[in-house]
Amino acid sequence: MFSVGIVGTGSYVPENVMTNRDFEKFVDTNDEWISSRTGIRERRIAPKDMPVSELCYQAGLRALEDAKVAPEDVDLVIVATITPDYVFPATACLVADRLGAKNAAAFDLEAGCTGFIYGVATASQFVATGMYKTALVIGGETMSKILNWEDRSTCILFGDGAGAAVLQPVEEGFGFLSFELGADGSGGELLSQPAGGSKYPASLETIEKNLHAVQMAGKEVYKFAVRIMGEVAIKVLEKAGLTHEDVDLMIPHQANMRIVDAAVKRLGISPDKVIINLDKYGNMSAASIPVALDESFKEGRIAEGDTIVMVGFGTGLTWGACVLRWRKAGLKTND
Ligand code: UT7
Repeated sequence: MFSVGIVGTGSYVPENVMTNRDFEKFVDTNDEWISSRTGIRERRIAPKDMPVSELCYQAGLRALEDAKVAPEDVDLVIVATITPDYVFPATACLVADRLGAKNAAAFDLEAGCTGFIYGVATASQFVATGMYKTALVIGGETMSKILNWEDRSTCILFGDGAGAAVLQPVEEGFGFLSFELGADGSGGELLSQPAGGSKYPASLETIEKNLHAVQMAGKEVYKFAVRIMGEVAIKVLEKAGLTHEDVDLMIPHQANMRIVDAAVKRLGISPDKVIINLDKYGNMSAASIPVALDESFKEGRIAEGDTIVMVGFGTGLTWGACVLRWRKAGLKTND
């Protein structure tokens, strides 16, 4: 079995910035409520004619460039998203085609905001066994396209973006040290986009009832998130034989600053080791963690050998975490 690490990262967010104040014009909310209750100040919104595949393509391209990997050398493309271009075909196939990754298998993976963690956990199994040498994992969302813009309890929370990582074998002792994944479908209805699938196919009624938009029991999801984030972070560190004292950087899913604060407190790590991007991007679902990872690396916040914990939760309900010992150089293996 090979050790598997992240040897390149990339991200892309749309240019258009939407501030909290912009919401004051069309829903009963205000900047003070949004920033004090969530920590969000602004988010990016994709143009109407920009599908998620475009964001994923841009992030993927940057990650391949960063890793110095040619598209035809990619063996696997996974796109984690809950806002695919289509119900089918998979967005990953469209992205692989645009990238020129013509030798790659490609599929989408749906685990909501935990999608990137599920994605790297899945891809790393293929690389660890030697079945594939290079995998591209992208977390991308256009949440703006599935929001009810009249529902102040959800529309203010989300943003659009994509982040990507290239996985390859790395020197032993580096790369992913442990994963922890979980799911509890009994909470599936707490956060969902009910219509458009086989249970509630699109109809005039589903449109009138706004069932193609995000529905969320915010308080319930909040309670679940506060409990699970700390719990799963502690578990994944234990699995790696580490404690909170070994952590150099924590990248939590970015849904609400109060959820992050609770997890950080539970874990007992210093807040200055925690990466925050929800103030400028809101909750980008599967894209939040990989965008934060890419920006942290590009800003010089990650050094060789650093121990990074990434932890998320999301619709499903799902949760997941991984411990990554940073090593950006891929191992030379015989093809
Ligand atoms: O990635 C996973 C996705 N989702 C999450 O992680 C969300 C988790 N949940 C949360 O982050 C929080 O529950 C929210 C931010 C969604 C809501 O915050 P809260 O502190 O739980 O507020 P609340 O739902 O208890 O609402 C308090 C009040 C209510 O008014 P009343 O009933 O007390 O009069 C809401 O109607 O705040 C009201 N409210 C708002 N007021 C102004 C709800 N949304 C807004 C708003 N602006 N945007």
